[in-house]
Amino acid sequence: MSTTRELGERTQGMVDALAAISAEPDRLVRLFLTPEHRRAADLVGEWMRAAGLTVRMDAAGTMRGLRPAPGEDAPAGKKLLIGSHIDTVIDAGRYDGPLGVIAGIVALEEIRARGIVLPFGVEILAFGDEEGVRFPKTLSSSSTVAGILDPSMLDMVDADGISFRDALLAFGGDPEALAAEACRPRDVVGYVELHIEQGPVLEQAGEPLGVVTAIASQGRYRLTVKGEAGHAGTVPMAIRHDALAAAAEVVALIEEIARKGARHSLVATVGEMRVLPGASNVIPGEVHLSLDVRAADDDARIGAAADIRQGLAAIGARRGVVVTMETVHEKPVATCAPWLREAIAAAIAETTGARPRELMSGAGHDGQAMVKLTGIGMIFVRCHAGISHNPLEFVTIDDLGLAVEALIQTILEIARERAG
Ligand code: GLV
Ligand code: MN
Ligand code: MN
Repeated sequence: MSTTRELGERTQGMVDALAAISAEPDRLVRLFLTPEHRRAADLVGEWMRAAGLTVRMDAAGTMRGLRPAPGEDAPAGKKLLIGSHIDTVIDAGRYDGPLGVIAGIVALEEIRARGIVLPFGVEILAFGDEEGVRFPKTLSSSSTVAGILDPSMLDMVDADGISFRDALLAFGGDPEALAAEACRPRDVVGYVELHIEQGPVLEQAGEPLGVVTAIASQGRYRLTVKGEAGHAGTVPMAIRHDALAAAAEVVALIEEIARKGARHSLVATVGEMRVLPGASNVIPGEVHLSLDVRAADDDARIGAAADIRQGLAAIGARRGVVVTMETVHEKPVATCAPWLREAIAAAIAETTGARPRELMSGAGHDGQAMVKLTGIGMIFVRCHAGISHNPLEFVTIDDLGLAVEALIQTILEIARERAG
């Protein structure tokens, strides 16, 4: 049996080991279905095997480690799903995603060491496609498990023109076998994910752990501004149709609309911009922008997207450029199941001695897909200054230990609930 500190140290060591697997030597970049994703998945598979789990990689590239219920042979029997993702953003922090997978493995190791028998199986899921950096749409791994994968996703292409289908084949997955990977709702107890908060609430409150109420409504859009390329030295300012100058106005408009929605936790971000043809002496003719809009409720997010669309038309008309906005990915609010919120709150109270606060997740998670399969619950862990999607992401070893202990207690609460 380990102390909380030892659980934290073990978790930190594994987080660091995964963080060493990157496409680049000086920063953490581990995109979906890349060789580094495969190396990370293999390492996670080794850890799962060492924890006594029955391990396989599914057709969508998700590493799955099952601890069968007593007396049952894998993969039969009802199971609790615990997961998170091992892909990262570009220049990522080390905790976003891997922590949830590692905490699940360490929790099961510890449950075994404590000699605890559970009334259900537990499957740890190391998803690969949560960040959605490589392909335009995201959550294909968890959507496969939830049985809601849109087969047209297989035709998506990355920036190099490689299709999801080909990347999955190269990774060792099987595009033809995805449908068979779906869990049946009646075989599943629920889905639990442990994740860093990625925001400042817990740190400001001086609390290590929190319970998530829901995951925010999210939309991803692709904007294109088409103007007219021309000679930077000869075209007078009055007759230009500069796509980048128009795009700058578009970005400012998006910020203005988002600022007005603070009471709905509305946020909007342009994170990518591509300027064509891209030369210092050519007036930009075309600009491609990404747009990410999120809010605490679906109406606020959909309303903001409509306001942005309207504003784009006005900018286009005034500047003589054409601005289009295409919806790429949409997920409504994913509400956490009340019974899992209660189980997690009781588990955190058991671990820390204090009833935790509840908070909403502005960040997206695999629970947005898993909620279509089963009830979802999330444990948030305090992270330094709320920094995430940044190499400065940081969690103390003591908080890691508390997080793993709270996950163990959550599994035990769920077991008690089911026994009752
Ligand atoms: C993933 O971290 C997201 O919220 O986009
Ligand atoms: Mn994440
Ligand atoms: Mn993330």
